[in-house]
Amino acid sequence: MKKLDINNCLLNIESMDKHHRDFIDMYNKIDFDNDEMLICEIHSIINQTKIHFLEEEELMKKYSYPRILEHKEEHDKIIYELTYFIKKASEPFGKKLLKSFCKERLVQWFENHIVSMDSDLAYSLKNRQVN
Ligand SMILES: [Fe+2]
Ligand SMILES: [Fe+2]
Repeated sequence: MKKLDINNCLLNIESMDKHHRDFIDMYNKIDFDNDEMLICEIHSIINQTKIHFLEEEELMKKYSYPRILEHKEEHDKIIYELTYFIKKASEPFGKKLLKSFCKERLVQWFENHIVSMDSDLAYSLKNRQVN
């Protein structure tokens, strides 16, 4: 399984890096062979991620970041998908779907989001000397 690496994700904005580090730690610790723990671990990731997104959105509002709507849309979309697949997990084949969603789409989404939208936000905040 692909592991995430914080060194590829650092943006040099302390609050953002902290949330990204927490996500990576939680993701890398998931034991995909342990079905009982899996649901609990994904719930923790969803909760942590909601807080992470809210904080980024607060920063965007505070500093009148111009691309807030499209950025928030991406946040909402992945939370919607995660919630959808975790609900499906109780159905036949649901856990399989949840696992492949996490191993493929979630990891890819996280890395892409950081190099595109979060990097752009961090760049904009640095120009306003936020840390
Ligand atoms: Fe982020
Ligand atoms: Fe973001």
